[in-house]
Amino acid sequence: MKKLALGILGSGKGSNCRAILEQISIGKLEAEARLVVSDVFDAGILDIAREFGVANVYLPPGKFRTRLEPNVEMELVRLLKEAGVELVVLAGFMRLLKEPMLEAYPGRIINIHPSLLPKFPGIESWKQALAAGEKVTGCSVHYVDAGIDSGEIITQRKVPVLPGDTAESLHARIQAAERGLYPEVIARFCEA
Ligand code: GAR
Repeated sequence: MKKLALGILGSGKGSNCRAILEQISIGKLEAEARLVVSDVFDAGILDIAREFGVANVYLPPGKFRTRLEPNVEMELVRLLKEAGVELVVLAGFMRLLKEPMLEAYPGRIINIHPSLLPKFPGIESWKQALAAGEKVTGCSVHYVDAGIDSGEIITQRKVPVLPGDTAESLHARIQAAERGLYPEVIARFCEA
């Protein structure tokens, strides 16, 4: 069976990337990680790529804070296409994608977010859920559009907010749910 070629983008520690690469390495996910890209030079996700022997690139993002400079985003498209990437997986990539990526990969870019969207888009969503007094929060996998965590939802997993939860304990519970959910969703793309 042909393996789905993944490109994984992230800005942080890379625990979701690790979960995906582990599922691939034990043969549970019929996919192949072709390239890991980060906009942060010393991001943990790049170390994880190296640990698993996956090609990896630091892409200097340019002068904007919330998105890539257009020429950088075009370079990102070039790198992903050159690597034969079929599905782009955002795993803690903290920049908005614009036309170059959205036009190059229509319906083929997915993201994971630590809340039950459309609730609590943006940053530190678990803190937002805690502050709002939610009893249940969770994580969402969605298609990426030009907005902030606003694309069509593919699936969600609920996580309880427990009495005495701190931001840290809730975040850890959500991230554990993410690590289960994301490889499962990617597996569905492999079957399609
Ligand atoms: C994940 O919790 C992911 O849901 C979040 O970044 C974290 C990255 O962690 N993404 C967003 O908030 C996107 N808006 P990781 O680097 O350990 O995978």
